[in-house]
Amino acid sequence: MKKIGMLTSGGDCQGLNATMRGVAKYLFEYYGDSELKVYGFKDGYKGLISNEYDVLTSRDFSGILNLGGTILGTSRVPFKELKNEEGMPRVKQMKETYNLLGLDCLVILGGNGTHKTANLLSEEGLNVVTLPKTIDNDIWGTDMTFGFHSALDVATDVIDRLHSTATSHSRIFIVEVMGHKAGWLNLYAGMAGGVEVILLPEIPYDIDKVVDVLEKRRQQRKRFSILAVAEGVISKEEAKMSKKEFKQARENMRYSNISYRIADEITERADLEVRVTIPGHVQRGGAPCAYDRVLATRFGAKAAELIINKKYGYMVGLKNNKVVPVPLNEVAGKLKTVPLDCDLIKEARNIGISFGD
Ligand code: F6P
Repeated sequence: MKKIGMLTSGGDCQGLNATMRGVAKYLFEYYGDSELKVYGFKDGYKGLISNEYDVLTSRDFSGILNLGGTILGTSRVPFKELKNEEGMPRVKQMKETYNLLGLDCLVILGGNGTHKTANLLSEEGLNVVTLPKTIDNDIWGTDMTFGFHSALDVATDVIDRLHSTATSHSRIFIVEVMGHKAGWLNLYAGMAGGVEVILLPEIPYDIDKVVDVLEKRRQQRKRFSILAVAEGVISKEEAKMSKKEFKQARENMRYSNISYRIADEITERADLEVRVTIPGHVQRGGAPCAYDRVLATRFGAKAAELIINKKYGYMVGLKNNKVVPVPLNEVAGKLKTVPLDCDLIKEARNIGISFGD
């Protein structure tokens, strides 16, 4: 009897169920229903820590390809909470559950934090295979994460809808797109939505440069302007601050979101009417798009193949459109941000998109 544990950890995204389905379909196909037992741990690592799970049959993975969210539930267990003065009691608990159930492998779906913990479990001798989920596309070692394209479609739709109302009213609109540290989603959504200004966490912005773009468009009698702003953007002044100063400055900021501050900064400098739209978690909700369904299924099938071949300690990734295993220890602790010299930024600049720098 082959025994597999499965869990989804961290913020959810589209394609989690589709990926688990891909893993399960291949494994049930290969081992047969009577020779495979899948333990679905509840709410991420929490379920593994407290030994809470449901045994899932092949039927549980049926009809979930286009289902949003995760059938297992998820939670964030911050990496630093795994340890205390006595060592790593939570890791010990996870190992105990693994050994108690006699698992052959753990299949872990998650983002950056999740991968750090997964690598730790692998280093502790557990058989682990992981899958890269996140709308941020910021996991090192894969060209693409599942969830990204679905969120991109949502963010692009939001921008499209704002275009018409912005034109009617001759307004400036700011759309705040998710992404604290990496601006991939905002960069792609901004390009796909045809915005005038894209502000990324990787490129500190100068508000005067942003206002110049808006003024120029007004002079050209263009009736609207749209700015795509990543939620994690910082100004040039903030970029010069120490970590402590920055934290203090943001604590004192009287805005719930950076976009509201940018809107005020624009209004203070120019006679322009600015509105802010924040789609927030809508970007992570609902069914995965067709691209993500395919990617998730390919990733899932590859994870199953690794398990069948007893190839553990890997994340499944996409490189040059090939689904490949990537050593977990190369992934853990790294962040894939937007390189400042990447083609996409150059191409965007060439067509006149401003990055506010
Ligand atoms: O990592 C995915 C993500 O959606 C980020 O883009 C966003 O900053 C964050 O999660 C939001 O986290 P939470 O769901 O905890 O509010």
